[in-house]
Amino acid sequence: MGFFYLKFLKPPQLAPLKGPSGSFTLTTVFTITSDLGDVYFTDSIDIRATLSSGSAILLEKTISWTNGSQFVRCDMPFQSSKIPSTGLSGLVLSLSPVPSEVEGRLADGIDELCRIYPDPSIQVVSASSSQTKLKGKNLFAASHLVERRLKLRTTGDVLKVWEETGENIAGHVWDAGIILSAYLDHYADKSSGPLTKLHSRLNRKEEFTAIELGSGCGLVGLTLATVYPKSTVFLTDLSEAEELCRRNLELVSTTTSGVDFCVLDWYDTAIPETIPKDTADIILAADCTYNTGSVPALVKTFERLTENNRDAVVLLAHKPRHDSERLFFELMEDNFDIVERTDAALPKTSDWEDEDDGGQLPAQAVNLYTFKRK
Ligand SMILES: C[S@@+](CC[C@H](N)C(=O)[O-])C[C@H]1O[C@@H](n2cnc3c(N)ncnc32)[C@H](O)[C@@H]1O
Repeated sequence: MGFFYLKFLKPPQLAPLKGPSGSFTLTTVFTITSDLGDVYFTDSIDIRATLSSGSAILLEKTISWTNGSQFVRCDMPFQSSKIPSTGLSGLVLSLSPVPSEVEGRLADGIDELCRIYPDPSIQVVSASSSQTKLKGKNLFAASHLVERRLKLRTTGDVLKVWEETGENIAGHVWDAGIILSAYLDHYADKSSGPLTKLHSRLNRKEEFTAIELGSGCGLVGLTLATVYPKSTVFLTDLSEAEELCRRNLELVSTTTSGVDFCVLDWYDTAIPETIPKDTADIILAADCTYNTGSVPALVKTFERLTENNRDAVVLLAHKPRHDSERLFFELMEDNFDIVERTDAALPKTSDWEDEDDGGQLPAQAVNLYTFKRK
């Protein structure tokens, strides 16, 4: 099936209550859906909502999400005596699944990439709101953005990636992207891994250049740039992805300077000059093959990026979603060979059925491929 993502349908708002002054209600509405937003989480789970200001926790509440839920409203009473000396404008609300097993508690809203690959023990990805800002005279509200906080195994850093709350395809993290990030983090300090051609290019002590196509909010490229500090990584996508991606670029560690964003539309015949197409070592894409309409343009872009650079490794993270995605592999066959493949398991919900559903493939794994020019 795949991962499910906590999403704010109504960003947290703090409003004064009628009656005695100094009483507020913090309100939010959230949902838990798949990356496509087409399936609600079907298991019952407790979600912990934590309101914090810096490292201080101001409020906590556990809310139940039950099988059949489509959204949950959360109201938390808040007294002005709890207001930190810094005021109300820096509050953050995090939503995290309450772990079923007893284990050390991570700070709120943080998920570990080591629990996503190789054995996914996380099924629901946490969310944190933006900091509440003063809005109007007495009302405080977070923006329509969600922050994913992913702890890297290799460096211990927490990678922070902002997403949009709506259905914009480029505006949020997708299953193949989160799996590929966890894969890269898992093998970063190992000398090899199942994709040996890829690992012969990845070395934490050596410089290399990577170009990511369809980077969306940038999770994969930012992971690569963070766990391989000597790399140079170009994130690319349509112009509508630029603002969010640049916002995320600003959040990565200052030691990770070799990462930038550039608009690269697969339908454009020319590759922008800033992209080092003839010298890149790795060209990667995650979850970019779901739309058969744009697949020929994507394949052409891989061809353009490798026609004078035939040694480059093309890395693809593919979550099989539909039979029609065969087209990508058929078109790639003209100029590329699949060199290696490894499959990364996806978590399953309790109502999982191993049945084909009229051409909709029940994805059990994200398939990671490397390709080389013929
Ligand atoms: C499903 S999202 C995957 C995002 C990200 N790689 C991830 O895994 O989280 C597909 C991405 O491909 C981008 N895309 C779609 N058509 C494109 C095109 N013609 N040129 C460049 N990027 C495109 C979208 O904007 C979007 O960011």
